[in-house]
Amino acid sequence: MNVEAQKRAAAARALEFVRPGMRLGLGTGSTAKHFVDLLGERVRAGLDIVAVPTSEATRAQAAGVGIALTTLDDTPELDLTIDGADEIAPDLTLIKGGGGALLREKVVAAASARMIVIADETKWVPRLGRFPLPVEIVPFGATAIHRAVEAASAAAGCPGPAVLRKGQQGHAFVTDGGHWLLDAQLQSIADPPALAARLCMVPGVMEHGLFIGLAHAAIVAGPGGVRLIERP
Ligand code: A5P
Repeated sequence: MNVEAQKRAAAARALEFVRPGMRLGLGTGSTAKHFVDLLGERVRAGLDIVAVPTSEATRAQAAGVGIALTTLDDTPELDLTIDGADEIAPDLTLIKGGGGALLREKVVAAASARMIVIADETKWVPRLGRFPLPVEIVPFGATAIHRAVEAASAAAGCPGPAVLRKGQQGHAFVTDGGHWLLDAQLQSIADPPALAARLCMVPGVMEHGLFIGLAHAAIVAGPGGVRLIERP
């Protein structure tokens, strides 16, 4: 199985957790895209669900495959969210936001009774931090916020540079919420809750990509097959 086949295998396994009548959160990224695709097939075969997308990209894809969409304003409580991740630690703490959708992803996951992460095996790590941690900030005062984010990570025991994510033509990448992203290159995050607490205290930080206590299970696909890991 190549990596793309592993992502699809994880997505297919996640479908087994979907029941008729469920209110779903739909993640963003290449792995979640497989799930939306497979879910669309079920919907077209008669499965009755409604879903909240975590990005404009997922909204467009889901609408295109026939999935009925709702919003968290009309449907504030969801049964299940299926989403990808950039890194998954053994306690199911995650780094997310590589695709730039972390703010909506976290809001949707927090509104869900259950979140299942789907990924290929490269995402499974003993400790978070090799993948740069996305931090979503307001554009106003970005240089000052940038410095404060670097100071916060150093104070949390994981110093490292944060880099403004660039989009088209060298301009700052703009999220669906109109914000910018810093990618904090920390290498190893020994204490994710301590870092999360520090980052949340920086004025201008809208959200960060540490997902702590949100994932209930992970479905990880590798060359040897698909495994389900439940949060202890
Ligand atoms: C989107 O903002 C991210 O949180 C994605 O869920 C994450 O980057 C995983 O994406 P892939 O499935 O494309 O690796």
